Amino acid sequence: MAYSGPFQPGDKVQLTDPKRRHFTFELTPGAHFHTHKGMIAHDEIIGSDEGSVVTSTMGTDFLCFRHLMVDHVLSMPRGAAVIYPKDTGQILVEGDIFSGARVLEAGAGSGALSMALLRAVGEKGHVFSYELREDHLSFAIDNVTEYFGQQPEHWSPRLGDFGEVTPEDLGGPVDRVILDMVEPWHFLETVKNVLIPGGVFMTYVATVPQLMNIMEGIRAQQCFTEPRAWETLLREWRVEGLATRPEHRMNAHTAFLVMTRRLADGVTPPRPQRKARR
Ligand SMILES: C[S@@+](CC[C@H](N)C(=O)[O-])C[C@H]1O[C@@H](n2cnc3c(N)ncnc32)[C@H](O)[C@@H]1O
Repeated sequence: MAYSGPFQPGDKVQLTDPKRRHFTFELTPGAHFHTHKGMIAHDEIIGSDEGSVVTSTMGTDFLCFRHLMVDHVLSMPRGAAVIYPKDTGQILVEGDIFSGARVLEAGAGSGALSMALLRAVGEKGHVFSYELREDHLSFAIDNVTEYFGQQPEHWSPRLGDFGEVTPEDLGGPVDRVILDMVEPWHFLETVKNVLIPGGVFMTYVATVPQLMNIMEGIRAQQCFTEPRAWETLLREWRVEGLATRPEHRMNAHTAFLVMTRRLADGVTPPRPQRKARR
């Protein structure tokens, strides 16, 4: 799939009408897109630059862009709840997902995080995505394939229980492990076994009891650094002259993120020093 340049046959184009409604379809030579505001020939879009305006047979203007990954994630069919872009961004940066990294994630769910990981590691890296449920794995495979135009060669979506994964299944240890599942604390032994020393482990949990369990579980394993926990609050602003102000509504809570690193074999974590109380 091309990410920039003039539109080509096979590209996904996203039209925006004057009411800011989106319509997304694949460009096919000779085909037509029908709306209640008239018809648009795909050939009028093919070859034009992104950001062009195309006018329907009934005189309505539509802005033309390729849809972004974030548009795809928020509109694609879901089997399981997806990780939202504000948290995906944190995982990519705080989880230090580098070009060429070997990353193991579970569960694959709807494939939202898989897509971001695949783009970040690039073709020299590899992403292994384990999923317990066959129906969810199908959603993940369809969504990822739909976005990239084909199933990426550097992706291994697998039906299975994360708890049973061994380094041999992955051709050796991985650089990063990301878990998005209900009870990640049951799988810390697996994380320990598959993660290379220095590797980053991140997990995403929605509730306070889950957060407490995973933090205590990581500490009890004695093979990880003191875990960090945080959440990210994102508030949009409306910027219109004297009416400039934060939006009334926001997604106040999605989940907590937890991050830790694997120690070398045989090392126990130094106790964190806390400031003495006055
Ligand atoms: C919230 S969804 C993951 C969503 C995904 N991160 C995304 O962004 O689309 C959680 C998934 O974990 C899967 N799961 C739960 N336990 C699992 C396990 N032990 N091994 C593999 N997958 C598991 C569930 O079936 C579910 O599909």
